This record gives sequence, structure tokens and C-alpha cells, in this order.
Amino acid sequence: MDDETATPVTVIGLGLMGQALAGAFLKAGHPTTVWNRTAGKADRLVGEGARSAPTVGDAVGPGRLTIICVTDYRAVHEALGAADVKLDGTTLINLTSGDSGQARETARWAEARGARYLDGAVMAVPSIIGTPDAVILQSGARADFDAHEPALGALGTVTYLGADHGLASLYDVAGLAMMWSVLNAWLQGTALLGTAGVDAAAYAPFARQIAAGVAEWLPGYAEQIDRGSFPAEVSALETDVRAMAHLIEESEAAGVNAELPRLLKAMADRAVAAGHGKEQYPVLIEEFGKPGAR
Ligand SMILES: NC(=O)c1ccc[n+]([C@@H]2O[C@H](COP(=O)([O-])OP(=O)(O)OC[C@H]3O[C@@H](n4cnc5c(N)ncnc54)[C@H](OP(=O)(O)O)[C@@H]3O)[C@@H](O)[C@H]2O)c1
Repeated sequence: MDDETATPVTVIGLGLMGQALAGAFLKAGHPTTVWNRTAGKADRLVGEGARSAPTVGDAVGPGRLTIICVTDYRAVHEALGAADVKLDGTTLINLTSGDSGQARETARWAEARGARYLDGAVMAVPSIIGTPDAVILQSGARADFDAHEPALGALGTVTYLGADHGLASLYDVAGLAMMWSVLNAWLQGTALLGTAGVDAAAYAPFARQIAAGVAEWLPGYAEQIDRGSFPAEVSALETDVRAMAHLIEESEAAGVNAELPRLLKAMADRAVAAGHGKEQYPVLIEEFGKPGAR
């Protein structure tokens, strides 16, 4: 990297994720300053060429791109609230996980102190940071994202979502909902098959194929949700409800926990009772969107 494309970067927070982020900036040739509350975590990065700042105030400065990645938003405020920290003229990118309300509140807080602020989410584990598989989400002012997109590219595949600072966190938690639902569905099936002596490893390839097949339905189902129209092109919700009953009965008979299928069926039963039985599965979005269901 030549001097014109190198961006001075500061990384605050050198936990597992912060170390990976700082390492990726260094590897891409960006002059990198680091700070961590507990001394010692900067040592390896200093060996790779980072500068270790003695205080947060020293690490943050005008014209520098500052990335913070600490445990939670409370830690962000504690770290950056120190008396010697001047955010005026800096661009602050917060990659700490949190919710959308915290992101919007922190944007107001940082902007009131003169910073340009982007909120972000890292949907990746530390070991893949710096590779295209690392998904990094960004939200905030488009101009601020555009100005720093080349440097952020050192971290992975970076996607800009929009001006609302809360968007990155919303996508992040939506992704968590997907992740745990898929995993729990797999665990349910694994427990059921386990009662017949089938190993988890034997079922895993089938489960993977089913999950991939269901994922293929999402774009078409999303169109139905956005149109607000749910014609039963593949199967009607009332057909799914009958299959849910099989899953519950099979689980109960086998002594497998049936709480999740019962919950799913209770939601589907409500939709059927509301007259949606002959429509397609994504009509259930109304169960998720109802204020009482939140
Ligand atoms: N690890 C992952 O796989 C992963 C994946 C996606 C997103 N994330 C997110 O990335 C963020 C960091 O995760 P991590 O895995 O790096 O966590 P971690 O290894 O536990 O590190 C936490 C970091 O936060 C710092 N910290 C905590 N409280 C602080 C405070 N009051 N003031 C200053 N610094 C403080 C810690 O400093 P000390 O060293 O002094 O304790 C440490 O540097 C989290 O929001 C996490 O959800 C992590």
C-alpha cells in the first residue's frame, strides 16, 4: 500500500475481536494505533508494527479513523467518556454489539462531541476477519461511509445499510434470530433421531440439505410479505399445522422436549383461527408484527 491510500487508524479495545481488527488493518498496511484498558494485550500487535497509545485520549485524534470494539455500549461510553478524549474532528466507527436504540443514542452522543459517527456490526468470528467471508455492516451518513470504505475493506466484506444508525444492530439481531432458530430446529431433529440410536453426525448432512432448501424459499416468501398477499402456491398453512401436530406427538411420545413445536403451532393456530388457513406460511408475519406479540 502506498502512502496515499494508507489511512491512519486507531483501534480501541483489544479483546478477541479488537485484536483481529487491528491485525487486519496492520496487514493491509494502515498505520495503526491501539489502546486497551488492560495493559499487555497490545504487545503482539506492537510486534507487528502497531503503536500502543498510553491513553485513549492519546489514541484518538482529529483526522484519524477510530474503531471501537469493546464488550458493550456501556464500555464504549466509559472508554470514550474520559476527560482527555477529544472526539472533535474524528470519525468514530463503533463495532461493538448492541441494540438499535443504543446505536442511535450513541450516535447523538458522539455527534454532540463533534465526531462523525458510523455504527456497525461484525457478523463474523475473529479468525475470519480480514477475509471476504467476514461480514461487516455499517449504518450512518453515506458520505462518512464512502470516505472510509477503502480502509474498512481491510476487515472483510463491508456493506452499507442506510442513514439510520440503528440499522446495523437491527440486521445483527435479525441474524441472531435466524441463527438460533436454525440451530434449535436442528437440535430438535437430532434429539428425535437420537431416540432411535441415530448419531448427530448421521443426521447433520440431511439437516444441512433441508436448511439450504428452505433458504431457497426466502426471496419468494419475502415478495409475498412485501406485497401483503399470501396465495398458497406450494402448501396452505392448515397443511403445515397438521404436520406440526405430528412433530409434537412424535416428540412427546419419544420423550423429547416439545416446547418449541408447541410454540410454533400455537402461533399457526392463531393465524388459522383468524382466517388464514388457506394462505401460505409467511402469512404468519402478522403474528410477529402484532404489538401483543412483541
Ligand atoms: N468474538 C466474537 O466472535 C465476536 C463476533 C461478533 C461480534 N463480537 C462483538 O465484538 C465486541 C468485542 O467482543 P470480544 O470477543 O473482543 O470480547 P472480549 O474478548 O471479551 O473483549 C472485550 C474488550 O472490551 C474491553 N472493555 C470492556 N469493558 C471496558 C471498559 N469499561 N472500558 C474499556 N474497555 C473495556 C476489554 O478490555 P480489557 O482487556 O481491559 O478487559 C476488551 O478489550 C462485543 O460487542 C462482541 O459482541 C464478537
